[in-house]
Amino acid sequence: MTVNFGVRRLGHANVSVRNLDRSVAFFEKICGFEEVGIEVGTGAGFVSNGNSHHDVGMVEIGRPFRGRDGEVIIEEGFQETGLNHLGWEVDNEAALVAAIERAVASGCQDYLTIDHTFSHSFYVPDPDGIFHEFYADVMHDWRSVFTGGPIPNISARWDPEAEPPSAEPKWQRAPDYQRVADAPVHPLRTTRAVMVVEDVARSLGFYTEFAGLDVAYMAPDGAYAYLRGTAPTPDFHCALFARAEGLENGCHHFSCEMAGEAQVADAEAALAARNIPTVATVDSATKRSFCLRDPDGFLVEFYATRDCDFAQAASAPPEQRPFHA
Ligand SMILES: [Fe+2]
Repeated sequence: MTVNFGVRRLGHANVSVRNLDRSVAFFEKICGFEEVGIEVGTGAGFVSNGNSHHDVGMVEIGRPFRGRDGEVIIEEGFQETGLNHLGWEVDNEAALVAAIERAVASGCQDYLTIDHTFSHSFYVPDPDGIFHEFYADVMHDWRSVFTGGPIPNISARWDPEAEPPSAEPKWQRAPDYQRVADAPVHPLRTTRAVMVVEDVARSLGFYTEFAGLDVAYMAPDGAYAYLRGTAPTPDFHCALFARAEGLENGCHHFSCEMAGEAQVADAEAALAARNIPTVATVDSATKRSFCLRDPDGFLVEFYATRDCDFAQAASAPPEQRPFHA
């Protein structure tokens, strides 16, 4: 049985961080995503420019993950910095619940279901142990929950069978994009993730049959693949690269779309003026981009797409290819 969560797009990336205040400041004051909510009681922070309830989520390591009723949902919390999970948007709750039922019927046991007030979520690890969240929004006005600063804890355990799920899509249809005026970088939204995996063919089984992404391109030698959800995109929502010397398994970086090339150039100039170093500038036929390292060393890319050419990455050395996705 094919599980097929029917993913629309990457909604957000969630990173585990050593110091929440420091990381929220980085993603707001440097990366230019507005702070929308801080769950003080569990050490989680969220930033968004309006595309979804959050473009980036952060959790502070070493703290229990607590629910809104005080219940400890994950006793040990999270231990290591870096990607915590990728948040994949599903069209509606009924589609999400039907996919969860298929996942369970097919033998999936290692999962967690959470009610985040504005969304309902299913968390599961992939073959490399990376966690993925498949979620559907369950209310239109997420800003009534993320009110811009400290908020009570918003999560609880969720029983997908407790109530009939809604088939109405509630994802953000017409984003009112925000701009952090004083930040050097002004991204629109989080759009894609670039992963380094142990075995591309094995991972494709998860990303296609389980997640429901489509293969947009497969390198002839099988060394990398590009994937798309059902939402329109000029290029891709996820790229998988085979592990090579100098690359570690896991999320290589996640990417934030800029309005255009001028905004990328402006951001680089503004960062240079503040002596903030960029990493891995790319000026190729496919994109103009740079990366920043978050306070824990995790890579975040800011890019403007040129002509989509999935074959282009093959011209880079294997350990550099993820930067050229
Ligand atoms: Fe998430």
